Amino acid sequence: MSINILAIESSCDETAAAVVTDGRVVRSNVIYSQIDLHTLYGGVVPEIASRKHVEKVNQVIKSAVSESGLDWEDIDAIAVTYGPGLVGALLVGVSAAKAIAYAKKKPLVGVNHIEGHIMANMIEHPDLKPPFMCMVASGGHSHLVYVKNYNEFEIVGRTRDDAAGEAFDKVARAIGLGYPGGPKIDKLAKEGNPEAIAFPRAYMEDAPYDFSFSGLKSAVLNYLNGCEMKHIEYNKADVAASFQQAVIDVLTDNSVRAAKDYGCNILTLAGGVASNTSLRAHMAKCCEKAGLAFFHPSGIYCTDNAAMIGVAGYYEYINGTRHGLDLNAVPNLKIGEKR
Ligand code: KG4
Ligand code: ZN
Repeated sequence: MSINILAIESSCDETAAAVVTDGRVVRSNVIYSQIDLHTLYGGVVPEIASRKHVEKVNQVIKSAVSESGLDWEDIDAIAVTYGPGLVGALLVGVSAAKAIAYAKKKPLVGVNHIEGHIMANMIEHPDLKPPFMCMVASGGHSHLVYVKNYNEFEIVGRTRDDAAGEAFDKVARAIGLGYPGGPKIDKLAKEGNPEAIAFPRAYMEDAPYDFSFSGLKSAVLNYLNGCEMKHIEYNKADVAASFQQAVIDVLTDNSVRAAKDYGCNILTLAGGVASNTSLRAHMAKCCEKAGLAFFHPSGIYCTDNAAMIGVAGYYEYINGTRHGLDLNAVPNLKIGEKR
């Protein structure tokens, strides 16, 4: 018998719902992105995000159920992101999920957003099984996670300061590309020389799998200021390509080393930054050299979506996880933390 999960995601600026069967088959995946709304302000405005979620959540859920081709009776459980994320935004999804669970008498399963990003890898790779190492890089998080089992996650490395996506967004703003910066740097970097400017790569001696991007970000800003003071016109594409390569080198070196040290033969990527075309290509090449299998989700499953919550929710559900109607949003929920 198949298990169908209705999943809801509202942790940041995407209102999303999906129906996923047996943790692998996506029957529907509806995403309402608020990105245009927040672009005006150069970043996500939490209050606006919450209001928009309230406006859209019912419609998105309805579409996900109707597009799945299933009836409400076929839905076995409701999975919802309860953290980490913006508290007001999370609360909208959590409240909607609780209302449906109550009204339709379905079990409720709270899901960790970051674990969802990691589990997105399962959707298009039916043979992928833990254990594996996963580099999760998004706008708010950069973590190296050892996925021991379908619902056992251990943080192996983390950023000391900025998340990788945050660094992309800040550098993009500094060279006038606008928000969100990741995709714009990705595109412009293709026209630049990644070796044009020697930006620093930070490796931590005391914690070999940790990251730091604030020094790199300052180095880029200093370079831009220096050019301005000397009235030299800098090449934007070279800045984008050289900055991007510095991020890619550190993410890849640490991930490959962690995978080998933990005895994994699989490395995966997840989160918004996993859409980066040069990062994917570089990691694929380095994994091949190191004898590691390499997987990443398609773009649609890298950005925030509810299908990934349906996958993680399925593995929680079959493991017996159930939440009561007192489930609350936990804005700082940790990876691997169960509440
Ligand atoms: O996972 P995500 O959609 O949202 C969070 O949970 O944060 O990640 C968004 C982040 C943004 O910082 C965005 O600039 C970055 O992912 N991003 C990229 C690319 N596409 C999105 N960074 C680098 N290259 C890309 N192609
Ligand atoms: Zn995310």
